[in-house]
Amino acid sequence: MDEKLDAENQSDNLITRRYFLESISGGAIFIATAGGVVLTGQFLSPNVLREPSLRFKAGLVENYPPDSITLNKEQKVFIVRAKEGYFYSISAVCTHLGCIANWKSEEGIIACPCHGSKFNKEGKVIDGPAPRSLPRFIMTMDEHGQLVVDKGSIVGEEVILKV
Ligand code: FES
Repeated sequence: MDEKLDAENQSDNLITRRYFLESISGGAIFIATAGGVVLTGQFLSPNVLREPSLRFKAGLVENYPPDSITLNKEQKVFIVRAKEGYFYSISAVCTHLGCIANWKSEEGIIACPCHGSKFNKEGKVIDGPAPRSLPRFIMTMDEHGQLVVDKGSIVGEEVILKV
């Protein structure tokens, strides 16, 4: 009698063990499938880095008095308003090794603090070691009267914005 009970208990244990093993293997298959779906989704989605726009608004014309040079530190760009009233913008990034140059109003030059390069108001090199002039960026005015600089468009020194 006891042997019969032991056999039934063992049979119950086997079913329990089988159920447990089936559950484990079902869970493993589910995890493997979910992992495959996630990895496939990552593989198929584009891996793109978004860079900030090269265009920025520089404010209203009235913010810039004639015959002024204003450094936009965030954008590393000089906004130049000539005494005749027109505008142009030049990079403040030194063409030698990339330091940010400053406007020296008392000397009337743009000077790099790192190795002493000097540029005139138009961004032309007047003293090295900078190998090239500071690039000039196109400036436009939007429908709200905001000045807009596009650092993605380098233009010649003849390009100005008349206002
Ligand atoms: S980085 Fe400007 S002179 Fe060297």
